[in-house]
Amino acid sequence: MKIVLAYSGGLDTTATLARYREEGHEVVAVYVDVGQPGDLGEVRNRAVKAGACAIEIVDCRANFADEFLAPALAANAMYEGRYPLVSALSRPAIAKAMADVALAHGADAAAHGCTGKGNDQVRFEVSLRALIPELTVLAPIRDWELSRDAALELLEATGVEIDITKRSPYSIDENIWGRACECGVLENPWEQPPADAYEWTNDPAAAPAVPMETIVGFENGLPVTLDGRHLSFLEILSALNELGGRYGTGRIDMVENRLVGIKSREVYECPGALALILAHQDLESLVLERDLAKEKARLEIRWAEIVYNGLWHSPLREALDTFFASSQQGLDGEVRLSFSPGCCTVTGRRSPVSLYDESLATYSESDSFDHTDARGFVRLWGLPVAQAAASRSAARAASKVLA
Ligand code: ARG
Repeated sequence: MKIVLAYSGGLDTTATLARYREEGHEVVAVYVDVGQPGDLGEVRNRAVKAGACAIEIVDCRANFADEFLAPALAANAMYEGRYPLVSALSRPAIAKAMADVALAHGADAAAHGCTGKGNDQVRFEVSLRALIPELTVLAPIRDWELSRDAALELLEATGVEIDITKRSPYSIDENIWGRACECGVLENPWEQPPADAYEWTNDPAAAPAVPMETIVGFENGLPVTLDGRHLSFLEILSALNELGGRYGTGRIDMVENRLVGIKSREVYECPGALALILAHQDLESLVLERDLAKEKARLEIRWAEIVYNGLWHSPLREALDTFFASSQQGLDGEVRLSFSPGCCTVTGRRSPVSLYDESLATYSESDSFDHTDARGFVRLWGLPVAQAAASRSAARAASKVLA
């Protein structure tokens, strides 16, 4: 078989590659760059040594931002209200890159290195199946139950050296939208995350004491400027990751419900994602008509669940995106963000299409709101409640007379 393998350069995927070679398969290793740290020279080296017939390094960052993160921002996507879907968004992006490589190389199968306990296996398999239905999807780490020792043995035969003493005590996944950290001591949900669980963010206690302000400009709901400078989504995100990281913002410590039924404790660092979602939501509060805003908020929860649960390619997600895209048309304006130790807050917003009317909102003399309108409105608004209450008390009075 010719197998396209999602390759990270780590112990598990290198051992997988070696074992496929031993079994006589041809392996095309694909390393998809979604912004995770990694030494590309070393990755290439290891793949070749382990016997890959080709290694494809795909820089998917811009595509990831435009095709996956932009819709997530339009949806203010936060699973269970807190997790901005760091890994959930990258899996369909990686699957797309794998599918392209599979087509280019005429592969029969695609393999991912996920375990059987997580969400990522679902995201890869469902996405790959939607993209190329006839491709066989393999999950060697899940299905072989390869032990650490067996993996090391496979590695030894290839001559690839990986210093496993340098391996993190955690399972880490990262991309430009954030960093996810689990396992090790974090498996006890009462245990405070040790300092080494965090990498992108300063401890708020060590953050600069003087707050700093930055202004994010949006056009059609997308971030386009930072402090007046025109930048790409990716550049704005990187700058906010850096700034938020410095101030120790964007840390999330939570227990979440995985699709496979397990609760898991996760520690995330998403300074840029959280700052952008906060700013975007705030601009929407100024600009979106009330009913649209409320319905959108309801559908955002659904969008996040669908994407978390691996159904990026579902027709419902696509239809929701059409709805969100319509809501984002003309969503222009600026949001003032203030960073202080451990906090990112909105301190102001403005928009040429704002629905906020100061003359209606004000409690000062310049008030243009007609207070006489309120009297009749409140009477009619409360009419059904008043009627129900009156009927209930009449019934109570009647039952007392009978008794
Ligand atoms: N629990 C998160 C999710 O399902 C993060 C998974 C991260 N994966 C990892 N190997 N650490 O989206």
